[in-house]
Amino acid sequence: MIGKTMSKRPLSVTAVAIAVLLLLLMVWSRLATTNAKWDGDAHIEVPDYTLPDPLITEDGRQLRTAEQWKSFRREQVLELFREHVYGRRAGEPDTLSFDLLEEDPQAMAGRATLRRLMIRSQVDDREHTFELIIFLPNSAAGPTPLFLLMNNRGPENTDPTREQQSGFWPAEEIVERGYGIAALQVRDLAPDDADHYREGVIRLFEGDQQVRPGDAWAALAAWGWGASRAMDYFEQNEDIDASQIGLVGHSRGGKASLWAGAEDERFAMVVSNNSGCGGAAVSRRRVGERLSQINNTFPHWFASNFHQYNGREHDLPVDQHMLIALIAPRAVYVASASEDLWADPRGEFLAVAHASPVYALWGQEPIDPDAMPALNQPLREGVRGYHIRSGAHNLTPYDWARFIDFADRLRGGEED
Ligand code: GCU
Repeated sequence: MIGKTMSKRPLSVTAVAIAVLLLLLMVWSRLATTNAKWDGDAHIEVPDYTLPDPLITEDGRQLRTAEQWKSFRREQVLELFREHVYGRRAGEPDTLSFDLLEEDPQAMAGRATLRRLMIRSQVDDREHTFELIIFLPNSAAGPTPLFLLMNNRGPENTDPTREQQSGFWPAEEIVERGYGIAALQVRDLAPDDADHYREGVIRLFEGDQQVRPGDAWAALAAWGWGASRAMDYFEQNEDIDASQIGLVGHSRGGKASLWAGAEDERFAMVVSNNSGCGGAAVSRRRVGERLSQINNTFPHWFASNFHQYNGREHDLPVDQHMLIALIAPRAVYVASASEDLWADPRGEFLAVAHASPVYALWGQEPIDPDAMPALNQPLREGVRGYHIRSGAHNLTPYDWARFIDFADRLRGGEED
């Protein structure tokens, strides 16, 4: 080579060491943000509290077997929630029918079959209708497991035409993973409004009855009643595997999905996303939303008896770990979001953990209340699952993907 020779100075050892150190730091900080232990509530003071023991009956007897739970204790706990929290929902209507409004076997570019149904109920001379939207994967070889969302947001989130697509109900992604996906609009069952909530299924059963008892059902229970009517349809449709239905609700919808799953044991899996107060979160912690706040702002969600516990959480005969226990031995998945302090993420996790004694009646391993999983690190313990996603109050494709991972593993019969 003519001319200058290029200087080939070897990289100094110090420079290499610094580069390696920087790289390690980057990897570490990335791991630290994705796998961090969540301490977003470290500044919040929690009062001392004692949770009611789900395995001690009202007359002080200690339960030991699943048989005892099934034969009487479950019903006792259910009654306590009906009486003091959600109210008593109606049974089946006098007549129930399903009218097919539309069927499109070429939906989602040929990947799914869309079905839109009108669910029609009659009681005396009154009638109520609401719509159910279903997409079933065309790739399915047999009856399909399915997720049903109780949609508490606008119907554009569950658009059957798919012109509008929303991460709140990522139907394409769910179909892609081999599951059916359905939605009902909670407002069709009971308008989400204190002045009008009776103008749906409550009126169907009660007519214009003026005086309502303290344990009369309200909006959350009415929404769940609709999920049960959708289940009636799944049970009589051979393309759907009614023994593998996951009921999903977000926020107020998640409070309703947990209660619906407690009332109706046909749901194999119940999912609560960011459900908070009156949902998965332990009320006695008094972190985030309090009973007085929820009852004053949304007086139409719970039975009026529940209002007696405003500021008196410790006097409730139940707490929300017992709601999770009512789902046993079926699958339950609770999801939180790190910025959603209003819903008390730790309280949501604790309800799942403190349901352990009831799940243990079926040989399920306990979940340690002190071992809340790190951010974005889903926990599965037998038929119970939990995650805390980093970010805000919302139902996102990340959350759905975790619900499906969980369902896949349950269906695969995988052990931890
Ligand atoms: C309000 C309410 C919560 C509820 C939420 C929602 O924030 O206080 O209890 O979960 O709305 O449904 O989005």
